[in-house]
Order: sequence, then structure tokens, then C-alpha cells
Amino acid sequence: MPLKNPWFETVAEAQRRAEKRLPRMVYGALVAGSERGRTVDGNTGAFGELGFAPRVAGHHADRDLSTTVMGVETSMPVLISPTGVQAVDPEGEVAVARAAANRGVIMGLSSFASKPVEEVAAANPNVFFQMYWSGDRDTMVERMDRARRAGAKGLIATLDWSFSNGRDWGSPTIPEKIDFRTAVKLAPGVLPHPGWLWRFARTRRIPDLTTPNLKPADGPAPTFFGAYGEWMQTPPPTWEDVAWLRKEWGGPFMLKGVTRVDDARKAVDAGVTALSVSNHGGNNLDTTPATIRVLPSIAAAVGDQVEVLLDGGVRRGGDVAKALALGARAVLIGRAYLWGLAANGQAGVENVLDIMRGGLDSAVLGLGRAGVADLRPDDLVVPPGFALTLGGEAPGAPAG
Ligand SMILES: Cc1cc2nc3c(=O)[nH]c(=O)nc-3n(C[C@H](O)[C@H](O)[C@H](O)COP(=O)(O)O)c2cc1C
Repeated sequence: MPLKNPWFETVAEAQRRAEKRLPRMVYGALVAGSERGRTVDGNTGAFGELGFAPRVAGHHADRDLSTTVMGVETSMPVLISPTGVQAVDPEGEVAVARAAANRGVIMGLSSFASKPVEEVAAANPNVFFQMYWSGDRDTMVERMDRARRAGAKGLIATLDWSFSNGRDWGSPTIPEKIDFRTAVKLAPGVLPHPGWLWRFARTRRIPDLTTPNLKPADGPAPTFFGAYGEWMQTPPPTWEDVAWLRKEWGGPFMLKGVTRVDDARKAVDAGVTALSVSNHGGNNLDTTPATIRVLPSIAAAVGDQVEVLLDGGVRRGGDVAKALALGARAVLIGRAYLWGLAANGQAGVENVLDIMRGGLDSAVLGLGRAGVADLRPDDLVVPPGFALTLGGEAPGAPAG
């Protein structure tokens, strides 16, 4: 059921369309969040508290938005954050990878994704493979070897997860697998969304809710819940484990989920190439502060030793400029591209990336900068008390 004009002008509009198009449980899985949802709201809201301090003349006609992340070139400092969401679109992560490749940006691929890393890397050569600390060491080595063979150029280790559960607005019911009986049960929720249904119907396949990137060499791919169970039962990693993982991977390595200065320093000691200041998009411990509030202290503490990225709450290009002005090298986006994917497949993700690029370019222009590398804290109005430092002192951090 094609829309009259599938183009959308903001991420907020993409979200509205996603809500209309997706069955409630799929939309709910994307909204995610935990407990009261304070951190999800905080991540987006905090960007709105920061102001710009634009210049009136002396602007640059040509502006350079490109950079590198962990040695890989990207046409702008916006990466696709890994998300293990199934059933949004039949092409899933392959559609996202194509969109990212067409716009020259790096794709983070979740180990819980619905498409194999080989297919995703074939669609976009600039893939970073994401892993949780799950399974035994041999299993993790096997998964890393496979990602490396497929051509992944970096590893993202996501460690900020504590299996918090319960949302005041209710969690979606996700089936273990979709067989005929489940399909019949889900039908009342799905049939009012013919656009979404049609996309799957055309491919003659229904989402199978398995995790192909966690498939052992000698067995079938685990279901999403099977994979979740393995992860829950794995003893949580120590900093020595992080150093081991980093060494086993051997190449560019990002630790995702840092919010504290002391953790950032330990990450440096463990040998990471980059870290992402992240609270898992508000899906981990609710009431953790917005990532943009803790970014300046972490950038001040370790930004001269490792690449510092941020994810959480980025919905427009201006947000990207603000994160860069406060010390991030690049940002990762999660829900923004998922809304785009839900609204209009691959073209919807391209649309979101174009919104990010357009907004970032406007900000760089208005701030009188020649490129993203020139953005500085004095390009912003930072309200008193905005910035926070968790886990010790960070000399040189802008006062909150
Ligand atoms: C539905 C959903 C699924 C996610 N799955 C993963 C995942 O599998 N691996 C991971 O490292 N992060 C995962 N994340 C976190 C994102 O990578 C990212 O940190 C977060 O979405 C950033 O916040 P934003 O959505 O406000 O941009 C997920 C986030 C969402 C919303």
C-alpha cells in the first residue's frame, strides 16, 4: 500500500508514520525504554535544553562534514547504532546497510539482528559487528572469527545491560517464533496494518525471529529468546574479560555503554580504540542521566587517548552538532533510523540520514564553522547545571 508521498521532513514525522504502519507490538518493541521511561525522555529532552550561539557573517561556503571512526571513513559523523529488532521490515538490516552505504556511513550490526553478517557486509563494506558478553569464550571467539571473515572492520562490545524489566506503559508480547498458530493469534493486531503486512506478504516469508549471527557451526540459529537466555546466564564480564575480548578481536574495538569517568579510564586501560557514551537508549537502568550531560566530562578525561562517541536521543542534525561541540567525534543513532525503516524501508533510512546531514550542515553553516572538526563548546548555550560528572573528577570538563 504505497503512501502518496513517502518522503518525510523530520524524524518526528517518521515516528508518527511508523506508529500508524506497524502492528502495536512491533511499534512497542521499538519504543522500548524501561520502568518510568525517564532516561529515554531525558536523552531527547536534554538536547532541547542546549542552545546555539550562531555567527552572523564570515560563514563558509564549503563545509566538511566527513570524518573517520576507528580508522574507517564516514561521510558524516553519524553511524547506524546496532539494534536487535526483528520484524520491522522483511529486508531488515540489509535494507539499513544499503541505505547506510548509499549515504557513505558506517553500519553497526547487532548480534541479535535478523540478517547474517555476511549479507549485511556485502551490502555495506563498512560494518562494525556488535556483541554482548554472552556464551563461553570459545563461542565468543567463533562469533568474532565469523564476523571478521565476513569483513567486519570493527567490533562494538555493548556491556551496559542489567536485564531490567517492566515498563509502566506495558511491554509488547513478543512470540518465541511465528508459526501458523501464533499467526492466527496475532492476526487481530496485525490485520489493521496492511502496509506492513503487504511488505512481508510480497516476500512470501514471515519474520522467523531467530538470530542468525549466533548460529553455531553445527546447529540451527537460536531464537531471539534462546539467545537472550544464553546472555542472561553468562556471568557478567570483569575488566580483564574486556581486555581479553579486545585482544582476541585484534582490530578496532569500541566499548559501548560508558557513562562514568572512572569507567572511561578503565576502558582506556583495557586498550579500547573508542567508547560510546551511552545508556542503551534508556533501555537499561532508568533514571540514568542523559548521555549528552555526561559527555563533556568523559571527553575531557579520555578524549585525547581514545575516540569518544555518543548515542542516545539524537533525532536531528542539530543534535549531532551539539554532541560534537561538547567533545564527541561522532554519534550513533538508534530509533531515528528504525522509524525511517518502518515508515519507508531502505528509502526511509536514507531519508533519515539526509535529515541528519541537512540539519548538521545548517548548524555548521550558522555557527560559522568550516567543518565538523571545528565545532566547539562556545558554539553552544549550555545552561548552568546541565553537565554532570559521574564517577570522579574530570579536570578540564566544562562546569555544569
Ligand atoms: C529497539 C532497540 C533495540 C536495541 N538493540 C540493541 C542491540 O541489539 N545491541 C546494542 O548494542 N544496542 C541496542 N540498542 C541500543 C542502541 O544501539 C542505541 O544505544 C540506542 O538506541 C540509542 O538511543 P536512540 O534510540 O535514542 O538513538 C537497541 C535500542 C533499541 C531502541
